[in-house]
Amino acid sequence: MNEDVAFIEGAVDRHHAWFARCLPMIASENIISPLAREMLLTDFGDRYAEGLPHERYYQGNTFVDEVEDRVVALAKKIFRVRHADPRLTSGTVANMAVYFALLEPGDIMTSVALSHGAHISSAKFGAAGMRGVNNVNYPFDVDRMNIDVDGTATLIKLVKPKVAAFGQSVFLFPTPLADLRDAFQEAGCTVWYDGAHVLGLIAGGQFQDPLHEGADVVTGSTHKTLPGPQHGILLSDSDDEKFIKRLQRAVFPGVVSNHHLHAMAALGITLAEFVEFGREYAAQIVRNSKALAQALHERGIKVLAEKHGFTESHTVALDVAALGGGAKLSADLEKANIITNKNLLPWDTSPVKPSGVRLGTQELTRLGMRESQMDEVAELFARVAVKHEPSEKVAADVGAMRTEFNTVHYCFTEGAEAHRRWRIA
Ligand SMILES: Cc1ncc(COP(=O)(O)O)c(C=O)c1O
Repeated sequence: MNEDVAFIEGAVDRHHAWFARCLPMIASENIISPLAREMLLTDFGDRYAEGLPHERYYQGNTFVDEVEDRVVALAKKIFRVRHADPRLTSGTVANMAVYFALLEPGDIMTSVALSHGAHISSAKFGAAGMRGVNNVNYPFDVDRMNIDVDGTATLIKLVKPKVAAFGQSVFLFPTPLADLRDAFQEAGCTVWYDGAHVLGLIAGGQFQDPLHEGADVVTGSTHKTLPGPQHGILLSDSDDEKFIKRLQRAVFPGVVSNHHLHAMAALGITLAEFVEFGREYAAQIVRNSKALAQALHERGIKVLAEKHGFTESHTVALDVAALGGGAKLSADLEKANIITNKNLLPWDTSPVKPSGVRLGTQELTRLGMRESQMDEVAELFARVAVKHEPSEKVAADVGAMRTEFNTVHYCFTEGAEAHRRWRIA
């Protein structure tokens, strides 16, 4: 075999074998179902489709159009909205479409600060800043790990942003959108909610329903709490045709040409599975993160927002300054096959020395874990973080635990082994 091919296949094999022995707890990741994964191998991944279904710039899209129509219909049904666009290739690309549609260079956008958990794409030195957007950050209630609602209302009325942006990457509690309605009205701004992290919770009827609480547009990744392919989506319930046209044109020809049709088909399977299993899955994710937070707290680990129940999402945020800091602890945990990430906390001053670690329960839940397993996970975590046990010893126990949790739950199982039928050669 060609040496480079052998090398790449070998490394991917080793990655698979490693992750099968790990506790995957990155809050922005998930595993796709076997049936959805099949779609990623199909000829859809070799084709181009530009524009909207039935109005394409290429021939050969007969069945692509059929699939896209169905994906759009499923998304509209799940999110109860008039408009769904599944042509975004990632959450960041969806956010760029919002900037292209709704903001000109120099316009003011209010948003959550990076150190308060926002994503880089809404920051000054990310996509927003590169679009020339003038970013003004909300005041933040560190105790509640949420925007300060009164301060935010005052700020919005004062600066009158063109767009008021919400949504975070460390997203523990729902954004009080409904309480800000008057401020939005007075400012006359468009309200955009980046639901990348919590899209599956929204779809599953947990957390909040931003499009029915005041948001004009929602963007998201489709591979975090929504357990689909790495892709993006844009949603709106607006009946303003001009507004929807602006969004559509920002998607194509604005930020995508071809929109990765295999991922779009995989997203369709994910949505179909979500109709069936989504509510149960989303509810279990939230139960698990509350249980994990409590179990970590009981082991002496500082979990943020203790007075407010720690979390209402898939995420648990830890202050590990006293345990060596986020960088050291996440590296130590990785040696024990517990995969997490270091994270800035609101009071951190150095981005290279974050004092936090962020955890997500959505993938452990997808593997079938429930509240009692969260207690075991907390104990494994504490054996590294607090008791400083040798990492090999903890890794062995993590691997043993994983042998019982090695299949994807909350998805259709029939037909899942037949994936080779899609292979072209
Ligand atoms: C709030 C938020 N928005 C956008 C993104 C970007 O998503 P993607 O990685 O799909 O581009 C992320 C990624 O984690 C995120 O947390």
